[in-house]
Amino acid sequence: MGSLDGKVAFITGAGSGIGRGVAERLAREGASICIADMDLEGAERTADLIGQLGAKSLVVKCNVASEQQLREAVEQCGAAFGRLDISVANAGIARGGPVLELALKDWQDQLDVNLTGVFLTVQATARKMVEFGHGGRIVCLASLAAEITGAGIWAYSVTKAGVRMMVRGLGQELGEHGITVNAIGPGVIDTPLAAGLAGEEGGAIRTNLERRTPVGRAGIPADIAGLVNFMAGPDGGFMTGSYVIMDGGLRDARALAPEPDEGIVAESLKIMAEGQKRREKMQPLLDDR
Ligand SMILES: NC(=O)c1ccc[n+]([C@@H]2O[C@H](COP(=O)([O-])OP(=O)(O)OC[C@H]3O[C@@H](n4cnc5c(N)ncnc54)[C@H](O)[C@@H]3O)[C@@H](O)[C@H]2O)c1
Repeated sequence: MGSLDGKVAFITGAGSGIGRGVAERLAREGASICIADMDLEGAERTADLIGQLGAKSLVVKCNVASEQQLREAVEQCGAAFGRLDISVANAGIARGGPVLELALKDWQDQLDVNLTGVFLTVQATARKMVEFGHGGRIVCLASLAAEITGAGIWAYSVTKAGVRMMVRGLGQELGEHGITVNAIGPGVIDTPLAAGLAGEEGGAIRTNLERRTPVGRAGIPADIAGLVNFMAGPDGGFMTGSYVIMDGGLRDARALAPEPDEGIVAESLKIMAEGQKRREKMQPLLDDR
């Protein structure tokens, strides 16, 4: 018996990284998963993994920046499974840069996905939960960057600080419907989005990160998935409007960061080139709304 037997979870951005880790964990606990992602390739790979666990899943192609696509995705989820218990507003992108150079389109895309996309996901899934009438649990992915920031990442921080504040008000509103809403602030988690910060196993960036992080390692999606499982499961019912950091202690260790050395600079350049390729592949999907 899993703690989420019979439950249904709608997870945005479940085709990669943290979203995939969350999908796997909730499926292991017995939930059926709706994998909502604009990248069908990644979403199908997650569906395969869930199938191997013996759980049910549904893939829906959905850009969270589009109100209509989200509404249709949630409708499909409700029609396929006949209920909706858990919503994870996880899809996100990172568009940084100095203020003198940051393009308006990058600023806008990031707001559309990280902030408006979370609002739209919460709205569409909460409406469906109210319609089904059995309450629900909503978890939004903010970031450690909601409270610490710096040159080049402040625009991303703005979107995540917005999510952190959003859940406080939403928790107040949705309590009467039996719905809780919480946010998570991950530190550096080893996913494609954070490749520049997490580096590669054994590389200069990773070694430096491990040295600076009190628990001595980078985070993995399963770490965050465990916290989502808590918020969405039987033990999380008294928590709403909260924002919980899970960062291995990095927040308060950050000031000890040494200046980048040659190894870190070389690895960063390589990762930036790979990140640029991934971004070029994702941009048309993001523009399709
Ligand atoms: N990885 C980290 O260190 C870290 C730290 C703090 C917060 N976060 C947050 O966690 C969330 C997940 O990040 P990740 O690291 O797993 O990233 P990732 O890039 O590995 O995965 C993101 C997934 O979201 C999907 N996606 C992006 N934009 C979308 C859109 N408009 N509509 C639908 N799907 C979309 C992508 O296709 C991808 O499958 C994000 O909100 C991110 O900001 C990540």
